[in-house]
Amino acid sequence: MSIQTQLTGFRLLQEIVSLVQQKRIDPIRPTRVLDLEELDAALRSTNKQDLIGKLLLRLPAGRNSLPIQPVPPNLEFRSDATYLIAGGLGGLGRATSNCMAEHGARHFVYLSRSAESSPMHESFFRELEAQDCSFQAISCDITSYESVSNALRQVTLPIAGVLQMAMVIQDRPFLSMSHEDWTTAIKPKVDGTWNLHSALQDAKIDLDFFVMFGSSSGAFGIPGQGNYAAGNSFQDAFVQYRHSLGLPASVLDIGVVSEVGYVSENKDMLDYFRTAGFPILTEGQVFETLHLSILQQYPAGEEKKTAATPKVDPGFTSRSQLTLGVRATKPMADATNRVLFKRDRKADIYRNIQAARMNSSMAGATRTGSGDEVAALMASLRDAADAESVLIRPETLKLLRREIGAFIYESMLQSIDEEEMEFGRSLMSLGVDSLVTIEVRSWIRRKLDVEVSTLEMLNGGTIENLGELVLERMKGRYAEKASG
Ligand SMILES: NC(=O)c1ccc[n+]([C@@H]2O[C@H](COP(=O)([O-])OP(=O)(O)OC[C@H]3O[C@@H](n4cnc5c(N)ncnc54)[C@H](OP(=O)(O)O)[C@@H]3O)[C@@H](O)[C@H]2O)c1
Repeated sequence: MSIQTQLTGFRLLQEIVSLVQQKRIDPIRPTRVLDLEELDAALRSTNKQDLIGKLLLRLPAGRNSLPIQPVPPNLEFRSDATYLIAGGLGGLGRATSNCMAEHGARHFVYLSRSAESSPMHESFFRELEAQDCSFQAISCDITSYESVSNALRQVTLPIAGVLQMAMVIQDRPFLSMSHEDWTTAIKPKVDGTWNLHSALQDAKIDLDFFVMFGSSSGAFGIPGQGNYAAGNSFQDAFVQYRHSLGLPASVLDIGVVSEVGYVSENKDMLDYFRTAGFPILTEGQVFETLHLSILQQYPAGEEKKTAATPKVDPGFTSRSQLTLGVRATKPMADATNRVLFKRDRKADIYRNIQAARMNSSMAGATRTGSGDEVAALMASLRDAADAESVLIRPETLKLLRREIGAFIYESMLQSIDEEEMEFGRSLMSLGVDSLVTIEVRSWIRRKLDVEVSTLEMLNGGTIENLGELVLERMKGRYAEKASG
């Protein structure tokens, strides 16, 4: 700062102090005091032109009381190394490879028994080439150590990460399950995982990640799939084993995926899961969770290569075992709800949360600040000589959109800050399932006195469209009243 600027500043300060002493100027009013947690909203409101007065921020007594929101880390794959995907030519493996290519991966190695022999893989290989990716497809049965170790010798680039996705389904009720049925499903998961681990260790390959694709059936079991469930439980436990050696590992326990993979290709199975109340996952949700799983290769607070000291775990929690799709789209008391954990004690907390949500919805509980505006709208419609004139106001559509959006977001236990709600996103992609649609339908009926079916709601697409649909219904209803 130049001396001239400092002198000007000093003179201005003296002038202001003197004006305050003479009471010719006052502090700006009104003042609004906000807690530091509200800083974000405060900064946004300062951008609004109608802001008059001063915003003051109150600092919390203790620094640790401030809520912290972590910034999601960005996942980029290496373009100078290759990624080995066992069972990667199946549905989920192909989809995952495409996502990895979009995030920088350029080289892949696929191990599967039919990798070099099946013409079915050709179109996928062309797709990879079109994305500027190179690949090695190596015929390999991962249940054999020799086969895996031979395959590793053929890999031409350093391997940076491994995805273990091999599986074989051999369903049979447990009492009639032969030993062969048992080993058919369990071997790719147990022997396959063990062989990959051992051969990579023997070849002294240092990995960034070792992710196993497991299933929520490992935690809860699926009738007729005792063999598959056991294989998945092994993979859950294998994470701890690798961690005890100081090696990276994680497992992604997936529920039912609709767009790609084994279940999507078996329509009867998909229909069964859908009607039984299982939430259906999208490819995008699986990849988002894989992203997190890749970044959580070591127990919390432990860096790469420092986890080798064995210690007694006081109680088991693992950020390297992520489960997705463990939820029910139907009430637990519904007889047609057949989700895996319906009678499982491990899911008691979930059952309580679902019951509390349903009770509050049935009791017509209103969230803070809401309900008033809807009630005011309904009162003004009752009192207005011409309800149509209220309904055609742009503010009415905005209010409906905001209130319906807030109810949907709140039902999904998400923030109802207007700036954060995405009115233009499809309800499906927001994660609205049939349970939430039932709640929304009864809320609309109770508060706005019109009917919208759950099908219309999902067909309606976005919250924006749903607001428009409700408004149209309200216009129809008040027009009917006016005519007679
Ligand atoms: N799809 C879902 O909804 C879902 C749900 C939960 C969990 N998961 C998990 O996700 C992973 C992938 O599932 P997906 O739906 O993509 O399955 P998928 O389409 O059946 O693919 C599995 C692949 O594993 C390969 N494989 C089987 N045994 C093998 C062996 N001994 N050695 C090498 N490769 C072998 C098969 O190829 P070859 O026959 O050529 O060997 C097949 O391409 C699995 O681990 C599964 O447990 C999927």
